[in-house]
Amino acid sequence: MKYSVFVTRDIPDEGLKILAQNDQLDVRVYEHDKKISREELLSEMPNTDILLSILTEKIDAEVMDAAKGRLKMIANYAVGFNNIDLAYAKSKGIIVTNTPDVLTDATADLAMTLILSCARRFHEAEKLVREKKFKGWAPELLLGYDLKCKTLGIIGAGRIGQATALRALGFGLKILYYNRTRKTEFENQTKAKKVSMNLLLKKSDFISIHLPLTNETKLLINRDNMKYLKSNAIIVNTSRGEIIDEKYLIQLLKSRKIFAAGFDVYENEPKLNPKLLKLENAILLPHIGSATVETRNAMAELAAKNVINVLNHKKALTQIN
Ligand code: DGY
Repeated sequence: MKYSVFVTRDIPDEGLKILAQNDQLDVRVYEHDKKISREELLSEMPNTDILLSILTEKIDAEVMDAAKGRLKMIANYAVGFNNIDLAYAKSKGIIVTNTPDVLTDATADLAMTLILSCARRFHEAEKLVREKKFKGWAPELLLGYDLKCKTLGIIGAGRIGQATALRALGFGLKILYYNRTRKTEFENQTKAKKVSMNLLLKKSDFISIHLPLTNETKLLINRDNMKYLKSNAIIVNTSRGEIIDEKYLIQLLKSRKIFAAGFDVYENEPKLNPKLLKLENAILLPHIGSATVETRNAMAELAAKNVINVLNHKKALTQIN
């Protein structure tokens, strides 16, 4: 018997080859270089035993039910899985996997890039040169902030949060972290201190968000606690936009109540709040945390290996539910 796999967007060959080499699998890949529409996705489901999805697809009860009981597995090509209704998948016995670990370094590198770029006003400096406004060295041209001896607050000390902290140590930053549980090994390695959210926001010069999006973390950083931010604070977010009150963050940036922010993710992406585009003190990236050749290849390979394991009645390498 053959199992039918539907891949919702073309992913690197490293993953597709693994699937294609397995003669138990019949693989279909969405052939257009754009996000699959809801209607197209629903119409593929009756012919799908295994769905390899990317994070832009909402995989909810309607999608799972459209497979009419055939769907056995959802292999998400992302570490985040807020696009999937996990509880419903569990209730239907559908296995869900993600791609952790392999994208930790790339995402931590991007968080650090945003921290450095915001601190040194990289985007403003580059724009000034391109607009032919560079009139020569000047004592007060585009002054930013040092990192050395400042404090970085890591919100969410999972793999990516910890990897960002390790990089930050090399720049002389001290680390505070907010996390549900204490991370003793991380503390020993980095001298990081676990603190409350309010204290982290009050004491940190740089703040980097690394939480998964869940009902508990949605708007965890909000109007109530952002009042504690320092006036030189820099916030960067490479996790999910809905964790922070974006509208309020825009207000703080516009009124220069904080120094800058680096966005890789947005509340309603890919739709952007038009006010973001007007902010000089914000860096706006198009959700590229894991976007390196090596990482995307490794994500594709891991997603495919998860499929093969499940097919062979073995435990998936990175099963969520
Ligand atoms: C993920 O995998 O969840 C990331 O956001 C992708 O860059």
